[in-house]
Amino acid sequence: MTVDDVTADRTAIPGFTLAEDDIGASPLFTHFWPDCDELNAQLRQIVLDRMAVSPGLKKSNCGGWQSERNLQLWGGPAIEELLDRMHTMLREVIRATVDDPDDSLLTGWDIEAWANVNQLGDTVAAHTHTGGVNMWAAIYYVDTGESPGTPSSGFTRFMDMSGTPRPVRGGAPVPSSRPATGARQDRCTQPEWHGDHDLQIRPHPGRMVVFPATLPHYVTAYEGTGKRITIAFNLRHTRFAVADFENPYSRRRMLWRNYRGPMLVMYNAKRSLRGGLASVVPVEKWPAGLRRRLLGGG
Ligand SMILES: [Fe+2]
Repeated sequence: MTVDDVTADRTAIPGFTLAEDDIGASPLFTHFWPDCDELNAQLRQIVLDRMAVSPGLKKSNCGGWQSERNLQLWGGPAIEELLDRMHTMLREVIRATVDDPDDSLLTGWDIEAWANVNQLGDTVAAHTHTGGVNMWAAIYYVDTGESPGTPSSGFTRFMDMSGTPRPVRGGAPVPSSRPATGARQDRCTQPEWHGDHDLQIRPHPGRMVVFPATLPHYVTAYEGTGKRITIAFNLRHTRFAVADFENPYSRRRMLWRNYRGPMLVMYNAKRSLRGGLASVVPVEKWPAGLRRRLLGGG
């Protein structure tokens, strides 16, 4: 990565040149799939049918229902169509972020997916999708639970982690955040809305959003009386890597740096085993322990 001198035009002093570049900016891609009403109606029914028979998982959701992380194995035309669309958008994202990508980068992506259903008052706490070989993450909006054109709640907000100082406009300074204890109740407290800092995505049925798995985000409280339904994705590939600078001294980072090769071998073995087993025995019939071990849910 290199820096070239660029003359910015916002300087107040005539002749004063200021070189400007950026590093570590987070790209975020959105696409609206047209003609998606029928697909969304089918996905909605599939998710609600699953919700009726499964207690779901407790992860970053605060009050909402989250399916087990195996939606990619549920099968059926609607799920296959959704996965196909996810692959299509992902390939476009790779073309937009990698110079002249070859087939080995455009293909071979592994998708893990799950459904989220939020009802009145439910939120999703701030979280990232980092872990394992998650490179990109994505959201597909099936149903906003409100009139499609004017959702007024259940916004997805992405948090700016660039560290760029921005002015506090109109009012009191932003209070310093309380020390986090990591307790679930703390995580469920809605983060301060930082306006210029956070990027708010308005839910819309058919909208697909792709972002780096490292980018923190949360979902504001859904205030409607229906059901807000989304599908989340982890997009994995072993020929990509991300910088891990969260804690340069953490044991996990050391392991990742020094044992990435063996970890990738284990990941691929697990993936093959999972796929092979699912092709002969439906996931629902797996013993609970095996499902936890192979599907994670984490
Ligand atoms: Fe998420």
